[in-house]
Amino acid sequence: MTETGAFMRRDRSWHPPAFAPGYKSTVLRSPRRALLSVEQSIGDLAGPVFGQEIIDPLDHDLIRNCAADGEAIGERIVVHGRVLDECARPVPKTLVEIWQANAGGRYRHVNDGYLAALDPNFGGCGRVLTDAEGRYAFRTIRPGPYPWRNNGSDWRPAHIHLSIFGEAFAQRLVTQLYFEGDPLIPLCPILNTIADPAAVDQLTAKLDMGEMEPFDSLAYRFDIVVRGRRSTYFENRPEGN
Ligand SMILES: [Fe+2]
Repeated sequence: MTETGAFMRRDRSWHPPAFAPGYKSTVLRSPRRALLSVEQSIGDLAGPVFGQEIIDPLDHDLIRNCAADGEAIGERIVVHGRVLDECARPVPKTLVEIWQANAGGRYRHVNDGYLAALDPNFGGCGRVLTDAEGRYAFRTIRPGPYPWRNNGSDWRPAHIHLSIFGEAFAQRLVTQLYFEGDPLIPLCPILNTIADPAAVDQLTAKLDMGEMEPFDSLAYRFDIVVRGRRSTYFENRPEGN
């Protein structure tokens, strides 16, 4: 028998407003007219579909998956957690992808002109499928903070971008995780568009000494709730999901 939880009404105040002048990009990109509903097509539901067989055993290990002649430089960490639905049931076999800056705060991307050096042994991308209990884990380097043009030079807290693919591309959810105790979190103009401190806390990975690897890596735990009242905030679903 399938267990179902209590109905949890969507809380629209959980998500930040589309127009938040402190985060300047929202001024031009926020809608000025009422939103329209667009019917889903069979193309939205049927494809493209991710082929699970193309996952490489090293894809989850950013310390080694792009290494040239050594290992990535920086603070070695494990980032792990579970993907859960609105009733705290695990979401198995879903693709979790991450991308991030290196230890100096620099992305390996043509548009990143930050003066911090690239790391020849760090690509900054990884992916993994959740197991039967919805668990995922990455080995990586703690990313550095980096400056960006908003109000002069603002600084992004250390963060990792993260995507949950779902069963079709139309379901893809995108968010960012931050690190417990980072003093840049309360200063971030992007995070400050989120009104409820509990929603920010849900985006903050917690130090997890129980999962650290002795003489190797610290561990951080980050659970992801894909739907419902306790949903993680997803930046590609500002209206809620
Ligand atoms: Fe970023």
